Amino acid sequence: MEIKTVGVVGCGLMGSGIAQICAEAGYSVIVREVNDALLKKGLGKIESFLAKGVEKGKVTPERKAEVLARLQGTTSLEKFAACDIVIEVVVESLQVKHELYQALDGICPAHTLFASNTSSLSITEMAAVTKRADRFVGLHFFNPVPLMKLVEVVRSPLTSPEAFEKAFAFAGSLGKTPIRATDKTGFIVNRLLVPYLLDAVRALEEGVGSVGDIDEGMRLGCGYPMGPFTLLDFVGLDTTYYIANIMFDEFREKRFASPPLLKRMVQAGLHGKKSGKGFYDYSQDPPKPVAGLV
Ligand code: 3HC
Repeated sequence: MEIKTVGVVGCGLMGSGIAQICAEAGYSVIVREVNDALLKKGLGKIESFLAKGVEKGKVTPERKAEVLARLQGTTSLEKFAACDIVIEVVVESLQVKHELYQALDGICPAHTLFASNTSSLSITEMAAVTKRADRFVGLHFFNPVPLMKLVEVVRSPLTSPEAFEKAFAFAGSLGKTPIRATDKTGFIVNRLLVPYLLDAVRALEEGVGSVGDIDEGMRLGCGYPMGPFTLLDFVGLDTTYYIANIMFDEFREKRFASPPLLKRMVQAGLHGKKSGKGFYDYSQDPPKPVAGLV
C-alpha cells in the first residue's frame, strides 16, 4: 500500500524535525506528544524553523502555511489507526518503547510499517515484542533533521526485503539520502562518530590541546563543520554518554568506553548547549570554553 499518512510518536528535538520534513514532502502527518504543553512546544519548534526559513527567503509564506496545514498534533495514540508508517522518536528506554509498540500494534492496521529513530538500541529487540517484526525497521535521522541529508535505514534479521525497500524509498521521498545498515549497535555513523568524540575528550584529558584548539584542528584541518567539542555540546553530553555506554556494553571494546571527564561532566549537569554549559559556556556570545575542566 502506498504511504500517504505518517505518524510520528514524539515531538521533541528530533520528532519535530521528522514531522516537519514529512509534511514538507507532502505527507499528511499525525504527531503525538504525551501532553498538551509538550505538543505545543514541539509544534512551536516547527513553526519557528519555517518562520526563520521565510526570513531567510528560503521558504514562501504560502509554503509555510501549506506545510503546517498537513500537520495534525495529538496526545492520543488512537489516531495512528490512519497511518501507513509510524516513526517512533520517544526516549531511549527499551521499556517505554516496548509498551508503546505493543499499544501501537493493536491500533494500527496490518500494513502499517513501524520505524524507530533509535540511535543505539536494538531494532531486533523492539521488533520482537510486536506481531509485525517483518514490517519493522530503523530510520535513523540526524540533528538538525531539516538540514542533515542522511537517513540510516536499518534492517533486523526479521525485516522482510519488501518492508526494507519500502522504508528505503520512503526515506528518499523525504529528500534525504538513505544508506543501508544492519542492526549492529550504533549502525554506521555512531559506530565511527562516537569513538572519535570520546577520543577528543581523552586528548583533552591528556593535555594534547585545549578545547578551542582541538575544535579548530578538526574544523580547519579536516573540513568538519563543527569541532568535536562543539558537536558534543550540540548532540548533548548526556546523550553521547548514554550511547557510548550502550555501545560499550554491546562490544566490550575500549574505544566505546566513556572517559572519566565525560562522565563527571554529565554528573555535574554540564550537558552541553541545551543546559547552557558543556565544553563551552553558552551564556556568552560567542560561547567561550569552560575553564577548569581538566
Ligand atoms: N529554513 C530553511 N533553510 C534553512 C533554515 C531554515 N530555517 N536554517 C538554515 N537553513 C539553510 C541555510 O540557509 C543554509 O543553506 P545554504 O547552504 O543553501 O546557504 C543551510 O541550511 C545551512 O544553514 P546555516 O548556514 O544556518 O548553518 P551552518 O552552515 O552553520 O550549518 C549545521 C549548520 C548544518 C548544523 C552544520 O554546522 C553541521 O552540519 N554541523 C554538524 C552537525 C552534525 O554532525 N549532526 C549530526 C549529529 S549526530 C546525530 O544526530 C546522531 C545521533 O544519534 C547522536
